[in-house]
Amino acid sequence: MNAVELIERKRDGQRLTEDEIRWLIQAYTDGTVTDYQMSAMAMAIYFNGLDAEELWAWTGAMLESGEVLDLSDIDKPKVDKHSTGGVGDKVSIPLAPLVASCGVAVPMMSGRGLGHTGGTLDKLESIPGFVAELDARTFHDILARVGVVMAGQSETLVPADRKLYALRDASGTVPSIPLIASSIMSKKLAEDLDGLVLDVKVGEGAFMRDMGRARQLAETMIGIGRSHGLAVTALITDMSQPLGRMVGNANEIAESIDVLAGRGPDDLVEITVALAVEMLELAGIDDPRTAVDEALSSGAALEKFEELVEAHGGDPAVVSDRSLLPSAPEQTPIRAEAGGYVAACDARAIGLAAMRLGAGRERKEDDIDPGVGIEVLKKVGDEVSPGDVLGVLHHRPGDISDALARASSAWAISEEPTSPPRLIHDRIESSGPSI
Ligand code: URA
Repeated sequence: MNAVELIERKRDGQRLTEDEIRWLIQAYTDGTVTDYQMSAMAMAIYFNGLDAEELWAWTGAMLESGEVLDLSDIDKPKVDKHSTGGVGDKVSIPLAPLVASCGVAVPMMSGRGLGHTGGTLDKLESIPGFVAELDARTFHDILARVGVVMAGQSETLVPADRKLYALRDASGTVPSIPLIASSIMSKKLAEDLDGLVLDVKVGEGAFMRDMGRARQLAETMIGIGRSHGLAVTALITDMSQPLGRMVGNANEIAESIDVLAGRGPDDLVEITVALAVEMLELAGIDDPRTAVDEALSSGAALEKFEELVEAHGGDPAVVSDRSLLPSAPEQTPIRAEAGGYVAACDARAIGLAAMRLGAGRERKEDDIDPGVGIEVLKKVGDEVSPGDVLGVLHHRPGDISDALARASSAWAISEEPTSPPRLIHDRIESSGPSI
């Protein structure tokens, strides 16, 4: 087969056959098809899409590019959650131990932060000693022993996506629904799950800025799951403003512990609980809402978090002693110039400001600073008086003017009262295109 011919066909809006797609992904994984050819193909797909059959073949070929996990000896239902990413989205950190403490196995594969969005692995690694990159055996052993494990995607799992995602990131082809859906779902299908809950974020701080595209992405992923026999439920949740109050890494761990200790911010608790209920429902647990409430109020979920941290080599004493977490020496407040009501707290602007402080990375190879971040004190709907602190930058000494300008631009104050956005916009269970 000839890569140029396939690129030209997709460029001209024609379909590719299953054999052609399988050949392309295989040849790209082994290096026969070059990065520049694959980036041209990704751009052609960005503009012309993939139909349902092409998407099925594309996802299957990605899945088959590497190994799949074998968790068949774990005698509990295995359910994971995947978020399409946002700002202050630390939900996985309280959610995974919470669900595990209700008797469901949670083999969670997470990612790192890039651009304005944070990554669960970076946050977890701000716990002293925590090892987030595990080999397949250790991943399996922690899951078997603790009932939950949270680690990065191993080298051997879906290597085609490892290459392709980096390429898309460098070629402006990330925000394509078929490419995002196949990228996420090929990795989830390789995890040997019984169920998957998707948290599709929508709004300024998300990949999907409007409901139509968020719904289309959710339905596409549900369709891929169904065609591979995986039960998938999706919640479409708000990412117009940061989730919770903390944006960064160590500060998001502290806030996650607050959720497990029963004192988390309302929006973060609501989404964590809603996703936990969905995961337990997929696992067939009776009366999931009661199970979640009991796991939180009894302290069982918090204990599971301590077990998880210890199993990953981390120091569980962070639960009772926050001073063990990294922090930044300087604090700069942002104050309201006028009184009124918060009409917007732009998640993307806050995320970019946090990245500029060092909490995130511009390029994959950048290091992050786990102690810096932004505290968001006023959110949409809050009443403010002139001079009130809207947020606080936690930073190192030095020039923070760019981060300060970006963060300050996030808040809009109106004279009219405003209401907080709905947190859960939609729930989708198994509709969508059949593949
Ligand atoms: N996350 C992924 O894993 N893949 C994408 O394409 C986008 C977000």
